[in-house]
Amino acid sequence: MASKFKHHVSRRIMEALKLTGSFSSSIHANLSRHLLVASNKDGVNFELVLPLKPLSQTLNSNVSFNGMKLTDLKYLSSDDKISAIAESHNESLIFTLNRNLFVKEVLNDKINKPYPYSKILDVAPYPFGKTVIVEYSSPNIAKPFHIGHLRSTIIGNFIAKIHEHLSCNVVKINYLGDWGTQLGLLKVGLDMAAHSPEALKQNPIQLLFEAYVKANKAAASDPNVAEQARNIFYRLEQGDTSELEKWTKIREYTVTELEGVYRRLGVVFNEYAWESMYGAKEIQSVVNMLNEKCILDTQEDGKKAVCLNEKQIPLLKSDGSTLYLVRDIAAAIDRFEKHKFEEMIYVVDNAQTDHFVALFGTLKKMQFPWANQLRHIKFGRVHGMSTRSGNVVFLKDILDKTRKMVEIKQQQSPTTKVNLQKSPEITDILGVSAIIINDLKQRRQRDYEFDWDRATQIQGDTGIRLQYTHCRLWNLEKNSGATLPHDCDPSVLTEQEATQLVQQIARFDDVLKRSYEELEACILVNYLFKLCNAINRAFKTLPIKGQDNHIASQRLMLFHASRLILNQGLRILGIQPLQEM
Ligand code: ARG
Repeated sequence: MASKFKHHVSRRIMEALKLTGSFSSSIHANLSRHLLVASNKDGVNFELVLPLKPLSQTLNSNVSFNGMKLTDLKYLSSDDKISAIAESHNESLIFTLNRNLFVKEVLNDKINKPYPYSKILDVAPYPFGKTVIVEYSSPNIAKPFHIGHLRSTIIGNFIAKIHEHLSCNVVKINYLGDWGTQLGLLKVGLDMAAHSPEALKQNPIQLLFEAYVKANKAAASDPNVAEQARNIFYRLEQGDTSELEKWTKIREYTVTELEGVYRRLGVVFNEYAWESMYGAKEIQSVVNMLNEKCILDTQEDGKKAVCLNEKQIPLLKSDGSTLYLVRDIAAAIDRFEKHKFEEMIYVVDNAQTDHFVALFGTLKKMQFPWANQLRHIKFGRVHGMSTRSGNVVFLKDILDKTRKMVEIKQQQSPTTKVNLQKSPEITDILGVSAIIINDLKQRRQRDYEFDWDRATQIQGDTGIRLQYTHCRLWNLEKNSGATLPHDCDPSVLTEQEATQLVQQIARFDDVLKRSYEELEACILVNYLFKLCNAINRAFKTLPIKGQDNHIASQRLMLFHASRLILNQGLRILGIQPLQEM
C-alpha cells in the first residue's frame, strides 16, 4: 500500500517537473531514495533529492542538489509558466513547472487533504508526537502585570499553537510569581489597607497593585517596613499556616480574574504553577542533590551559591529562604518528572537572559541529561503602551482601549464589503487581533513602539485587515450561488491573478516550516499579508456571480482554498477568524 502511494506520487512529480537549462530532459527516478537524476550534455549526473510528499509541498520543501541543501524555492512566473529557482552557493537550478498540474495539485491538495497536514509532512525535523512544555505569560502576583508579560503571552501562545499544529503533545504552563520578599511587602501593604475578603474577591488585581504601591512607598521612608516584609516572607517559607491560608485565597481570586482576561485573548493554559510550590520546605531534596554533587558553596555572607563560569550565583539566602533561581531549578526537575518532556521552552523577555543561562548551566552541572532540552525564547521591549500610571500596564485596560479604537474605526468606515456587526464580542476579537498581529509582525528580539492608531487600521498591515479579508471571503462563499467542484480544472483558472494566488497558497507549508524552525511568528504574519494582497487582487478580476457555472465553481474553489489557509494561519497565531465584523 505504502509503496503504491510512493510510486504514484513520484510519477506525478516527474510529470510536473521539467528540468531546464543545461539539463537534458531524461530524468530517472530512484523511488527508494526519492531521487530524481538528471544528466547534462556532458553526461554528468545531477541528483535531485525530493522529499516524498504531495507535489505542492515538494515544491516548497528542502530540496537537495548534489548533496547540497537548497532551501527557499522561489517562484518566478509569467502568464503561462511557473518556474521555481533553487539556489545554493553559486549553483542554481531552475525548474519549469507544468502550470496546469501545479495549479491542480495545489488546489486539490488544499481542499481534499486525505490526512491532517502534519501527517503527510513526513520530512525531518518535524516533531510529531513529541512532548513540549511551553511556559509563558507568567506574571507576578505581588507586582503588576507588565508589557513583557503581554508579549510573553502572545508569543508563547503562538509557539504552543504551532507545535500543536505539528502534532506535538503540548503542555502550556503559566508559572506565576507569588513568592519572594516582594510578597512580604505585598502582605504589609494589604495589612495597611485592611480590605474585606469580599472586596478582595471582587477586584483582586487592582487592590493587590495598590497595596504593593503603598508598601513600597512606606518602605522608601521607613527601613523597618522592608525588614517586616522579609520577616513575613521568612515565616511563610517556614510554613506559617495562618499566613498561608490567607495567601491561598488571594491566589485563587487572582487566577479567577486573570483567567477572564486570558479568555478575551483566547489563551487557555493546561496548568497554573506557582513559585510558592517550590519554597524552602519543598526543595529540600534539590538542596540535597546539590550538596551530594558538591556544587553548593557557602559564601562569606552565609548565602549558598553555585559557581558558574567562575562566578558565584546565589541560590539560597543566609536564613535558608529560597531565591528565584533555585525555585526554577526545582520547578524544572518537577516538570521533567511529571511530563518527561523532550523540549521545554521558556518564553521570557531579554532582560532575564542571565537568569536562564544560570538555570540551564546549573542543571547541566547537576548532570540532568535533559538539561540540553531547555530553551529560552526571548523577546525585546515595547514602548508607548502605558495606559494609567507610568510603565504599569493593566492587560484589561489595553484590551478595553483597543476595543474603543476599533469601534471608532468601524464607525469611520461605513463602506465595507462585509456585514458590519457591531456586537461587543466581535469588536473585542478585532481589538485582540490588532494587538496580536501588531506584536507578531516583527521579529521577536526587536524592540518596537506601540502605535494605537496604526495597529487598528482597517487597511495596512494589521490584524483587522486579515480579519476583514477572511470575512470578505466568507461572504463571497456564502453568497456566490456556486457549488464547490470535486476536482480542480486548471484550464479555466488561467488569469495571472489566479496563478499568483495559487503560488501563495502553495507557499504555506514552507512558511509554517520556517516559522516553526525559527520560532518567529513574523514569517507567518508577513506571509498572510502577502496572501491577502493576492486575494484582494483576485477579488477584482475573478468575479463569481453572473459567470458560467463551471467557471464560477472553479473560482469558488480558488477562494475557498485561500480562506482555509488564512483561517489556519490566523488560528496558529492565536486569533479566532471572524465570519462578520
Ligand atoms: N514571573 C517572572 C517575572 O515576571 C517571570 C517568570 C519566567 N519564568 C520562569 N520560569 N522563571 O519576572
